[in-house]
Amino acid sequence: MHFSWVVNDPPSGPFPAGHFSIQPEVFRFVVHEGPNLTMDASAAGRAADDREVIVAARNLSKTYRDFWGRSKKVALKPLDLEIRRGEIFGLLGPNGSGKTTTMKLLLGLIFPSSGEALLFGRDATDVTKNERVGYLPEETYLYKFLDAEETLDFYGRLFDMPPEERKRRADALIAMVGLSRDKKRQLREYSKGMTRRIGIAQALINDPELVLLDEPTSGLDPIGTREMKDLIIDLKKRGKTVIMSSHLLADVEDVCDRIAVLHQGELKELGRVEDLLRVTDVTQIRARGLPSAAVEEVRAVLQRHGGADIEVGNPTTTLEELFLEVVRDTEARPGRRARQADRNA
Ligand SMILES: Nc1ncnc2c1ncn2[C@@H]1O[C@H](COP(=O)(O)OP(=O)(O)OP(=O)(O)O)[C@@H](O)[C@H]1O
Ligand SMILES: [Mg+2]
Repeated sequence: MHFSWVVNDPPSGPFPAGHFSIQPEVFRFVVHEGPNLTMDASAAGRAADDREVIVAARNLSKTYRDFWGRSKKVALKPLDLEIRRGEIFGLLGPNGSGKTTTMKLLLGLIFPSSGEALLFGRDATDVTKNERVGYLPEETYLYKFLDAEETLDFYGRLFDMPPEERKRRADALIAMVGLSRDKKRQLREYSKGMTRRIGIAQALINDPELVLLDEPTSGLDPIGTREMKDLIIDLKKRGKTVIMSSHLLADVEDVCDRIAVLHQGELKELGRVEDLLRVTDVTQIRARGLPSAAVEEVRAVLQRHGGADIEVGNPTTTLEELFLEVVRDTEARPGRRARQADRNA
């Protein structure tokens, strides 16, 4: 794990007061192969493992066959997996790596070539589980000539929900996915992002315990993506279990507790996101408002203790953060022209 040390106020005491030459707000020290300042937080992550397993794949594989039963494509090699209640689990992998195939197997929509998929301890093909499961397929399949309210009403009927409950849930879900203004428009007029949103609302109509979302952020702009990610995190807060797939790394990094990385139908990595991303031989120290003299002093200390490849600099934000900042800024101050492109020019 990396170790972060953040100081919000300018330090006093051993650090001499100084003057900023380049106005750095936050200094970041990165020390490669530095002293071992790590602590084991992975134990805390593992403590959650006594929660109920609600999805399990045992030796689960899929080979698509042609009309004559000849083996055509090995889409998923034998997979073992357990997903626990309340987790956000990400299936990550490039196009054609087997994400959709895995989801369909877990939903019992296709039959495995070997092994089994269990949901709530029962075989995935058992239809009684359907009331507890929601699914957003990767391709839209909703009726184009219905509007958002009619769509949700239709799916509510499939679950035998009484009219008042259908209306109440449809209104709540339409508000939740941000479609209140467009709820009377036919879906054929919807943009890709709006179609994704109504798809999510449909997947949640039966208030499922487990939601499978196949590429929930596909077709969404950065704001829509952020909102979708917040929505998924919100589902977790409501106690739902979410399995989502994506080939966009940033999507799964932000929201998933654990991920499985698939490549050519094979499980390549499985674990907690923070464990998989942790660079254990690098120590990071961050401080806000540090005078330059103090920076030099800290650097000297790190050198004295054998820190190698010491980097000192200001951290960068992500492109996503920058994009959101620009859009928010523009909405707050309409008519404002482009920002200065090169801030340091
Ligand atoms: N019905 C099918 N018949 C034959 N091969 C199939 C079928 N469905 C999928 N495949 C093949 O199985 C492999 C895995 O496909 P899958 O749709 O699971 O990938 P994916 O990871 O979801 O990809 P993407 O990111 O493009 O959605 C691919 O090589 C694909 O061509
Ligand atoms: Mg897919």
